[in-house]
Amino acid sequence: MAKRKKPIDAKRRRTFQERLLTWYAANKRNLPWRNTSDPYNILVSEIMLQQTQVERVIPKYAEFLHKYPTLEALAKAPVEDVRRTWYPLGYNIRPERLHSIAREAVEKYGGRIPDDPEVLQSLKGIGRYTAGAVLSFAFGREAPILDTNVRRVLHRVFIGEGNAKSYSLQKDLWELSEALLPAGKVYDFNQALMDFGATVCTARKPVCLLCPLNDCCKAFPYTP
Ligand code: ADE
Repeated sequence: MAKRKKPIDAKRRRTFQERLLTWYAANKRNLPWRNTSDPYNILVSEIMLQQTQVERVIPKYAEFLHKYPTLEALAKAPVEDVRRTWYPLGYNIRPERLHSIAREAVEKYGGRIPDDPEVLQSLKGIGRYTAGAVLSFAFGREAPILDTNVRRVLHRVFIGEGNAKSYSLQKDLWELSEALLPAGKVYDFNQALMDFGATVCTARKPVCLLCPLNDCCKAFPYTP
């Protein structure tokens, strides 16, 4: 019989939240999309970051927003121009999708990025992760995120066995990401999860000895 899942222990949850947020306060990366609350800017960054490293996104994000400063400007632009501006970020369905989201937002949603989770996810190019990022970063909602980095962090700390990418764990990992959200601090918490996964709890060489969560991590000490 399948094991019944235990609800997350309240003390462990608080320890995780506090240590992660303390780590983030001292170590956060200063990234340009963290200096805006404009949903359009945040959406552009998140679509770029879906498949591209932060360092490559930074200059392209600035160039793109300089050329298309608003949803309306993007909606009016010929898609071929948008594709050209996107180059060389690769995975070229993304500029088309972003362009079509801009057109749909202008035509159907009064020129705004929708703030409803289901409407957001009905737009091509916005999956559950990107919807969670836009909702928590642009609209202050208590929405969970789960991308490759976050999946790895939560899997190591709270599960420790099996494979973070396995299909059967995705529901549990989404639930964990949601259960861990600290009320009123979701913006920092979600950004912190990403930075922590990108710089401490990395895929190949996590810095376990310096990790503020090593005494409560199910995968510590990590061996590849
Ligand atoms: N990857 C995806 N979204 C990100 C964000 N907001 N900050 C850093 N890396 C990210």
